[in-house]
Amino acid sequence: MSEKIPPSEITPESVYFNRRNFIKAGVFAGSVAATGGIYRFFNPPPPPEVVTAPIESVKSAGFSTTEPPDSFETITTYNNYYEFSTSNACPARAAEGFVTRPWTIEVDGMVGKPRVFDIEELLRFEQEERIYRFRCVEAWSMVVPWTGFPLKKLLDMVEPLSTAKYVAFQTYYSGKTNHPDAKLPPGPNGMQSSFAAGIDLPYLEGLRMDEAMHPLTLLATGIYGKLMPNQNGAPIRLVVPWKYGFKSIKSVVKISLTDVQPPTTWNLAADDEYGFYSNVNPNVPHPRWSQAQERRLRDSRMQPTTIFNGYADEVASMYAGMDLVKDF
Ligand code: MTE
Repeated sequence: MSEKIPPSEITPESVYFNRRNFIKAGVFAGSVAATGGIYRFFNPPPPPEVVTAPIESVKSAGFSTTEPPDSFETITTYNNYYEFSTSNACPARAAEGFVTRPWTIEVDGMVGKPRVFDIEELLRFEQEERIYRFRCVEAWSMVVPWTGFPLKKLLDMVEPLSTAKYVAFQTYYSGKTNHPDAKLPPGPNGMQSSFAAGIDLPYLEGLRMDEAMHPLTLLATGIYGKLMPNQNGAPIRLVVPWKYGFKSIKSVVKISLTDVQPPTTWNLAADDEYGFYSNVNPNVPHPRWSQAQERRLRDSRMQPTTIFNGYADEVASMYAGMDLVKDF
């Protein structure tokens, strides 16, 4: 990690973006002035309109929130997808050319029936709509009407061994891992290097077996009943609504069952800032900011953050007897 950007400079994104763009602006100013590029730099074109196909027959699973969902536009224009950009505003455009067909997910490790699933098969599973609160570790939040199916359904099909304790997830990655030269052209599919992203890639996440099998844990294939937009993790991503958003890994290509706690990207980047569990918890501040409140993207209003993001009745029992300050 020593030659890379220190984790403390990576988040929160708002700080990162402002400071780095300020520096970048200085560097670029001279070269683009003659071409009118300064105007374009400070007034970037609007993100492309997101056009994705509707998902056939979505049933309502009865998971809802008291607040209305955020708009499709909000959900698809304010993102975190470091493989494409470290700015919240940019993944919509940067991931525009991301090719997500054909696509497979390999499921292996401590299972009786390891298998490769094709995305077309997964899209034929019964698709449910689930409206969940979504809380980013950067203290913004929204309400998202996901479409998808419980992860448990896929795991049951590979027959987990009783010795499996954890589930490890991996995102598709096309670029060169850990390449020290940020100036390298991006790899196929427009993904940037680990150096430019400031985190090790491919992006990794993990859950305990009971968390992975929990009925709330979703493999999401879409938003608002339409196929998942690239910037939100096409064609299929994890959604774990009681944990900080970074646990909800995008564009999953591999799922492995294991008996050891798997490495996770943000924990590798800064283990004092991002724990393995990362359950939403207003009582455990991030070392550099409070987690007591959150900013709803819809109207920028601040509101109190609730333990387990409001899903305590469903999930708290999984953590009985644990010290949630130590095991954050
Ligand atoms: N998955 C991958 N592969 N790469 C990422 O950069 N960002 C995470 C998570 N999953 C990320 C990822 C973070 S920090 C958040 S908050 C959510 O995706 C954002 O999801 P959204 O863009 O759909 O809102």
